[in-house]
Amino acid sequence: MQKVKVRSGIELVIVENEAEFAKAAADKVSELLKQKPNAILGLPTGSTPETMYAELVSRYKAGLLDFSQVTTFNLDEYVGLSDTHPQSYHSFMKKHLFDGVNIPSEARHLPSGETKPAEESAAAYEALLTKLGPIDLMILGIGTNGHIGFNEPGTPFDSRVHITSLAPSTIQANSRFFSDESEVPREAVTTGIGNILEARQIMLLAKGESKAEAIAATLQGEVTIEVPASALQQHNSVYVVVDKAAASLLKLE
Ligand code: PGA
Repeated sequence: MQKVKVRSGIELVIVENEAEFAKAAADKVSELLKQKPNAILGLPTGSTPETMYAELVSRYKAGLLDFSQVTTFNLDEYVGLSDTHPQSYHSFMKKHLFDGVNIPSEARHLPSGETKPAEESAAAYEALLTKLGPIDLMILGIGTNGHIGFNEPGTPFDSRVHITSLAPSTIQANSRFFSDESEVPREAVTTGIGNILEARQIMLLAKGESKAEAIAATLQGEVTIEVPASALQQHNSVYVVVDKAAASLLKLE
């Protein structure tokens, strides 16, 4: 594992393998919960964080971690999927984290994809974040197009929780979870970039060659709404965990 200071406020960890990836990400959560047992976590879905969640579950089962005072806010949810739909993010979180640890059910928050009109779901989630926040540690994956949450290129950096249309590349990337691309929802409720930047600390996770361009643009490119994750350059406490493939286009000394 290699630690690199990319720029002021951003610490980068490059790991050798999947086990190190899961450990580095879970260590960050463990450290926070030791200091602050009632921390508020911002949580992502997707393939990237799966092994981190598995590691957190195994640490909980080994008695090394306690989530009884933790509150969670997920980043996003598809519009139009019921909570129990197998591809909803509600289902993902239940499977990968909530069923395995002791976060009280009333302390787990995700935007609703069922509420109609969807704008009401966004407004309710914004109100809840304002009431309970700020988030102590916001954990993020990243899209190949640089999206964070479902904040696609072009999203203003001061955006709040909102309904967004998925970019064609996101629909295509996420179609691997559905039997057909036409089944991927076209809209999502997402936490905005403004909400994300209000978190006390941010941890960005990425692995694989397909994320290399997005990671280089995020950490060393121009700060631009065309690369939503480049907004993280404006934050003062960002911890980035990447594998060698995702780090391959970074210019490191
Ligand atoms: P992935 O998704 O972890 O499945 O690659 C990340 C994202 O699109 O934000």
